[in-house]
Amino acid sequence: MNAAELRKKFLDFFASKDHAVIAGASLIPENDPSVLFTTAGMHPLVPYLLGEKHPLGQRLANCQKCVRTGDIDEVGDATHLTFFEMLGNWSLNDYFKETAIRNSFEFLTSARGLGLPPDRLAFSVFAGDETAPFDHEAHGLWIGLGVPEARIARLPKKDNWWGPAGQTGPCGPDTEMFYWNGPLPAPAAFDPADKNWVEIWNDVFMQYFKDKDGAYSVLAQKNVDTGLGLERALCVMTGAASVYDTELFRPIIRKIEELTGVPYAAKNFKAYRIVADHLRAATFILGDDRGVAPSNMDQGYVLRRLIRRAYRYLMQMNAPAKSMAAVAEVIVAHYQDAYPELGRNRDFVTAQLNREEELFGRTLDAGMKIATKYLENARGALAPEDAFRLYDTYGFPLEFTQELAAEKNIAVDADGFHRLYAEHQAKSRAGAEQKFKGGLADNSEATTRLHTAAHLMLRALRQVLGESVFQRGSNITAERLRFDFSFDRKMTPEEIAETERLVNEAIAAKIPITCSETSVAEAKESGAIGVFDSKYGAVVKVYSMGPYSKEICGGPHVGNTSELGTFKIVKEEASSAGVRRIKAVLT
Ligand code: SER
Repeated sequence: MNAAELRKKFLDFFASKDHAVIAGASLIPENDPSVLFTTAGMHPLVPYLLGEKHPLGQRLANCQKCVRTGDIDEVGDATHLTFFEMLGNWSLNDYFKETAIRNSFEFLTSARGLGLPPDRLAFSVFAGDETAPFDHEAHGLWIGLGVPEARIARLPKKDNWWGPAGQTGPCGPDTEMFYWNGPLPAPAAFDPADKNWVEIWNDVFMQYFKDKDGAYSVLAQKNVDTGLGLERALCVMTGAASVYDTELFRPIIRKIEELTGVPYAAKNFKAYRIVADHLRAATFILGDDRGVAPSNMDQGYVLRRLIRRAYRYLMQMNAPAKSMAAVAEVIVAHYQDAYPELGRNRDFVTAQLNREEELFGRTLDAGMKIATKYLENARGALAPEDAFRLYDTYGFPLEFTQELAAEKNIAVDADGFHRLYAEHQAKSRAGAEQKFKGGLADNSEATTRLHTAAHLMLRALRQVLGESVFQRGSNITAERLRFDFSFDRKMTPEEIAETERLVNEAIAAKIPITCSETSVAEAKESGAIGVFDSKYGAVVKVYSMGPYSKEICGGPHVGNTSELGTFKIVKEEASSAGVRRIKAVLT
């Protein structure tokens, strides 16, 4: 069985049980600032889990691409990955534990499913604590299906409770399914600590909502959310020794062997697997239709860490220049039938990998020399100043330095690093603010009108190009506005025209502009964009332009959008890496 067959088998099975098969969502969550990446199939479905009606009904199934970096240190063992595909099925206020468990068992063991021998399966259920009781029902259902008591572990919240995906949201007890991937026969009793028991599937029974104070309330509707790890299922189905030894990774590993001339063998499993995993994740993040570029912020930072870590291991194996892009080509070719966006975004993927290689390649050697020196002098702990210098001057992500240090049993003062980082941010922000003050050349009416137009334009750009667009700087005179924003390629003529149209629509709508003073937290809650931190002090001004814009800003602005005239973009060009610049006028 290969991955395509497995995806199909799962989706066909649940379609036959009246589930609508829905498309997977983007890896970059829309309208959800609580997480950086889509971490599970349930994530894009949160509104429906909370009660909104799904247009396709109450039973859904799909295959969702996911990124999780929480287990990044375990990447390279037999089962951990930062990118993976999750097969999932959902009941939105429809069936609950009984049907969910029966369906899972049937899919795992029957011929129309995976046909796994039941005597190699084990299960875990929630043991209960002060917030919620032992999951008696799930336990009883497994017993009813013939599972011996010794194969059902009762585990605490840290193991058998799922969610929420972000700080708040739906969550509940879960029951997990494990497969024995070790020497036969499988042991009679299930020991969750034994790594030969591979967790492959998780049925979550969403009954609770966790609020921002950490309190649980009972959800009005009960849902089932399940997630079956595709790579792990494929691994156990095909008897592979690890997820990296499945057909999904074989071409990637072969390509690395070809590039480095170093055979994939036990002594370098870990390096190989890290390169393969991280470049696969990076290819999917870059190749998403909402793909982001490497940067020092948010998703871009996670991406940068993955790429730089992969690059370092490739360099240790003496890979030639542009090896990352060459590996990415193989990943795109292997996956583009299932994920056509990778084909669409291929050039962006390879260009970004090459650019990051160039940026980091220039400083890596020098940085490694300095790092070696710092570590030699480091008597047990690396000074935070040194870790920060490696970051600031040589582009070493903290985790990267920590990894180098750990190889020599040296600790890194991460708190100290973060303190220096915050100080540095505050300083550069002060710089940016200075520039921003100069950003408005004067307080003339013409300049003020263009300032208001800049807000409308930012909102339009985010609508047209995606929410990864943020303001990077501006300079506004009475004649024109100049505006820098994060975005990684030239805008198409259609995108420029659509941006102009949206701004002019807002002007035609004659929207009164209001200003309110509020706390940063409330501003954020209300959906305002801008820089959310304490540099503004306790109270910030939020300028609202009807449905068109809401931004934290010092002003000034005109009273009504109708005062602006006609908006026109006269130029769109590169400003610096990952940043575009627009010049626009009002006529
Ligand atoms: N959300 C659950 C998980 O990630 C089930 O899909 O395991």
